[in-house]
Amino acid sequence: AIPVVLDVDTGVDDACALLLAALHPGLELRAVTCVGGNAPVDDVVANTLTVLDAASRPDVVVARGAERPLLEEAVDARHVHGQDGMGDLDWPKSQRRADPRHAVEVLRDVLVDAGERGGEDRVTLVPLAPLTNIALLLRTHPEVARGLREIVFMGGAAHVGNATASAEFNVFHDPEAAAIVLDACADLDIAVTMYGLDVFYDPRISREQAAALVAAGGRGSAELAGRLIAFQCDRFGSDSATIGDAGAVCAVLAPDAVRREKLPVRVELAGTWSRGRTIVDRRDWTGDLSHDPHGQARSTIDVCLEVDSQRCADLWL
Ligand code: BDR
Ligand code: CA
Repeated sequence: AIPVVLDVDTGVDDACALLLAALHPGLELRAVTCVGGNAPVDDVVANTLTVLDAASRPDVVVARGAERPLLEEAVDARHVHGQDGMGDLDWPKSQRRADPRHAVEVLRDVLVDAGERGGEDRVTLVPLAPLTNIALLLRTHPEVARGLREIVFMGGAAHVGNATASAEFNVFHDPEAAAIVLDACADLDIAVTMYGLDVFYDPRISREQAAALVAAGGRGSAELAGRLIAFQCDRFGSDSATIGDAGAVCAVLAPDAVRREKLPVRVELAGTWSRGRTIVDRRDWTGDLSHDPHGQARSTIDVCLEVDSQRCADLWL
């Protein structure tokens, strides 16, 4: 099984991703770290523990991380994810508590340990939220690079935005953190895949499929999964809903389910209308860039441009 750690802001679709990571035999979920994003971090921790209980995975360490972005005020997305950040499902709350360590310390401990063992034991880090915890981690403990196989993050886009016309929510929420992560990964030679909005909405589950999951009942993982999808169908008035962040977990499980291109990417930190946009350089020539006042981005990463939606939806189901 592939060792993974998820960094989340649970989050309706983070919950979908957690269920997949907790239950798929192809993955070994070593820890989950939480950050403020879709909801305030304390709600994120509570939601994450609740999802792992539904998946009968109380063994997974959950840690509380950054409350707010490095520079910006926290602005949550409860208008999308509900007042409690996870669809206001009236689901019994977990009685468990988070690990006493800060998320950054848990990430360090897990990754240093993986680095000592090396090889197949190295971890794939899957951030599905603003990158605040990960920026703090890479700047504070660069030695964790040895324990990382790669980072597959949900965020950014080559083409569209959602938080604004040009920026995706996770990057928009903490653009400095995203810029630091790309910069640090270039320095530390860490492979990065960006699973952004170009593919995020594609793998979908229908209302009927959700109803069949809900029918499993018993407050188990299938019922929760179905209710999360049904919540999104209702909220957006649609007959289907994306599995969202769970698609990034599918990209770890089935790397050939996404088409990636290696492209230079940087994060817009200023901009009048474009702060938080990921600028993906798709020019197909590599000639003299001396006329370009910005030169080339330092960071070249795998950008997901297409996804096999059916395969991901099947994998998640
Ligand atoms: C991202 O923001 C959140 O709403 C989702 O959980 C996802 O991580 C999409 O822009
Ligand atoms: Ca998320």
